[in-house]
Amino acid sequence: MVVFRSLRRCSPFSSSLRRLEKLSSIRNARGLATRATTSKLNTGDNIPALGFGTFQDADAQEDAVNRCLKAGFRLIDTAQVYNVEREVGRGIKKSGVPREEIFLGTKLWCNTFHPEDVEAALEYSLQELDTSYVDLLMMHYPVVFARGEERFPRDSEGKMILGKTTYLDTWKAMEKLLKTGKVKALGVSNFSKGEIQTLLDQGSVWLRSQGIHVMQFSPLGNMNPFYRETGWSKDIAHTMERITESPLLLELGRKYNKTPVQMALAWGVNNGRSVIPKSVIDWQIEQNLEADFEMDEEDIERIKFMDKKARFNDPSADYQYRLYGDLEGIEGTRDGRTH
Ligand SMILES: NC(=O)c1ccc[n+]([C@@H]2O[C@H](COP(=O)([O-])OP(=O)(O)OC[C@H]3O[C@@H](n4cnc5c(N)ncnc54)[C@H](OP(=O)(O)O)[C@@H]3O)[C@@H](O)[C@H]2O)c1
Repeated sequence: MVVFRSLRRCSPFSSSLRRLEKLSSIRNARGLATRATTSKLNTGDNIPALGFGTFQDADAQEDAVNRCLKAGFRLIDTAQVYNVEREVGRGIKKSGVPREEIFLGTKLWCNTFHPEDVEAALEYSLQELDTSYVDLLMMHYPVVFARGEERFPRDSEGKMILGKTTYLDTWKAMEKLLKTGKVKALGVSNFSKGEIQTLLDQGSVWLRSQGIHVMQFSPLGNMNPFYRETGWSKDIAHTMERITESPLLLELGRKYNKTPVQMALAWGVNNGRSVIPKSVIDWQIEQNLEADFEMDEEDIERIKFMDKKARFNDPSADYQYRLYGDLEGIEGTRDGRTH
């Protein structure tokens, strides 16, 4: 996921680096021997390197968000289509952590991308989240579905019905929301290099003056059972080892006294990105929070060369739209309806 209006950090598309703020150990704040790295956005806000994902397990999310905030997470990623925004809002309130201390991001879904629908879609999220603003608003995919109540509008044969507007129109409507104060930063998700370039070339002048910050979604890959079940990716997700079994991550984990999961998360952090692991289990939440530590350059490089070029999140066939067209990576399974 790419956050515009942000301080840049390395992305597949941008080599420009700016200041990565490394706060000193926050042992005092949350009793953990870990850093609390943030990147400074051009809005003036800081986006934490370690965040919390909320996809799936709707019934458990209110409690999970409450617990993750109490444990020390300050970045939460959610989306309209996850159907958990209400639970996320309740979890925030329950935690007692002041809203202004939390970086909260959500995503518009593809049936609300008509420019006339964008503001109402934001209002819907604000109501669900019970907040007056979001720190980040993203377009979930570059695919535009037909307008209307149906999140997954299909024809009589089950084929997705696409809308007539384009992601560029949607983006321009999103830019207008910045003036309302209800959105502090904008981003996109699941966009290819070319699609991002289109926004840069044809979006506003404002956009070209901004940098890019990258958030890694599904930072644990096929640890999420969803990828082993969905038609998009079940073949590849079953044949590929999980990161907990990775010989390299196990080896490096011994060096840093960390688990393979923590090594994978720390790799993202050391590359200047934000990572947003999801968990509803206390010990995992706490373990994930202790994944912000400095790694030696040679180890960062070794993990980089593990690149399997696999892609678990690829609903191209179902969405009737070729996603990630110009990005490297094995395409996910080409069939299977998921929603
Ligand atoms: N923009 C997009 O299109 C997009 C797509 C996918 C994901 N996302 C975002 O990214 C977030 C994270 O991705 P994800 O939910 O797909 O999966 P993930 O965070 O990569 O992995 C989650 C899985 O790993 C397990 N896990 C978490 N911490 C662990 C630990 N320390 N040790 C062992 N297992 C651990 C979880 O278990 P339990 O659940 O049982 O605790 C869950 O099964 C999402 O929640 C969502 O916010 C965005």
